[in-house]
Amino acid sequence: MAETAILQVDGQSYELPVITGTEGERAIDISSLRSTTGMITLDDGYGNTGSCESAITFIDGEKGILRYRGVPIEDLATRSSFIEAAELLIFGELPDPEERDEFRQLLTENSALHRDMRKHFDGFPADAHPMAILSAMINALQAYDLPEIHITDSGGFRRAAAALLAKTRTIAAASYKSHIGQPIAYPRYDLPYAENFLHMMFSVPYRDYVPSPEVAHALNMFLVLHADHEQNCSTSTVRMVASGGANLFASVSAGVNALWGPKHGGANMAVVEMLQRIQSDGIPVSRYIDQAKDRSSGVRLMGFGHRIYRNFDPRAQILKTAAHDLLESMQIKDPLLDIAQQVEEAALADDYFRERRLYPNVDFYSGIILRAIGIPTDMFTVMFSIGRTPGWIAHWKEVHDNEAQRIHRPRQIYVGEPLTQWLPPAER
Ligand code: SDX
Repeated sequence: MAETAILQVDGQSYELPVITGTEGERAIDISSLRSTTGMITLDDGYGNTGSCESAITFIDGEKGILRYRGVPIEDLATRSSFIEAAELLIFGELPDPEERDEFRQLLTENSALHRDMRKHFDGFPADAHPMAILSAMINALQAYDLPEIHITDSGGFRRAAAALLAKTRTIAAASYKSHIGQPIAYPRYDLPYAENFLHMMFSVPYRDYVPSPEVAHALNMFLVLHADHEQNCSTSTVRMVASGGANLFASVSAGVNALWGPKHGGANMAVVEMLQRIQSDGIPVSRYIDQAKDRSSGVRLMGFGHRIYRNFDPRAQILKTAAHDLLESMQIKDPLLDIAQQVEEAALADDYFRERRLYPNVDFYSGIILRAIGIPTDMFTVMFSIGRTPGWIAHWKEVHDNEAQRIHRPRQIYVGEPLTQWLPPAER
């Protein structure tokens, strides 16, 4: 017997189907609500609204569970390469050695940018934000009419996915090189994904940068942990743009822009700026916490809180350990890590944060790792974008392959002016 929910309104009862997900999450299917009741639901911020059924990532915010295609994040972060995790998300299962090598070859063949694209970097002012460059250049990839734009078969999709994963990394490194006035470094054919990125960021003519295994491992883990997170703001944006039939590159470029805000992917930059402010201004941690609790102060505890995780963000715990391990292996003492720990301890002991179930999220410790690697702060959200690209690709594909997919077009409740007469200028 299918489970239903009963809605009573205007003296009428309406039966609505209840659907249940793989892990037992339940939803009331309201797709017939307006046609049967003439009413819609209203849910500012979509905190109670599911936009789709998806088979890519599962999160249990109460238990701090995160799985990509059913595989626990704890296993992927410590045992998989970023590209292996990317293949899991995009193609639905962990690749066998042959599939992994074939995809790696596709990445290598698609890493370089068209020669003419390099001219775009000269067109940006030196202080252009790297996120503006990244979203613009991902869009610009279409202008080179990559055969991948018009995906007609699985082979075309594999090439497009590889091209976007590879070129996003190359664009990011090239934007940094342009910003600091160094020649753009070419991707190498012999390096894995994370090492190749670090090469393109830090190698200079006649002196190659070779990362330590610990640095490469930390970056690889950072990217795995950022690879997907179900219907977050930027991924929902990618799905919305994809629902209109837009191609993969246009959809992901929109996702980059959605990620930029300080409430979302921009938080990793904001966390480090917050810790630096506490350090440089000599603000007692207790006073900063008090400011963050006062809505009127305009101060937020960046890197804290999450719409879904009401217990702990498993990624934050993994990143905290990874930050410690990396700094220890590099024999670096970063005072911001100490301050971060003091802030975490003070917040977790404070009723304001406990009552609202606010815990460190993925952005709270990630910046410590990026700083140790030598990534500049204004590139932090670009690093989040590189990590999130496989998730955006996987969600674009899930929309693209769904023949029953309808264009995303939410309703609204109008609260503006009633019928208003037009008046000629002289009478206004
Ligand atoms: C990411 O969705 C995802 O999955 C995102 C992400 C991903 O992988 O894609 O996980 C990545 O974006 C992580 C979040 C990064 N952002 C930050 O760290 C910015 C700081 N955090 C807040 O802006 C906030 O917590 C959000 C945006 C993350 C969540 O906002 P919600 O769910 O809309 O929560 P809310 O604003 O309704 O807050 C509920 C209460 C409020 O207090 P009251 O009005 O009930 O008194 O908690 C308070 C808020 O004022 N609150 C905070 C706070 N976050 C929430 N108070 C102080 N500092 C904070 N950081």
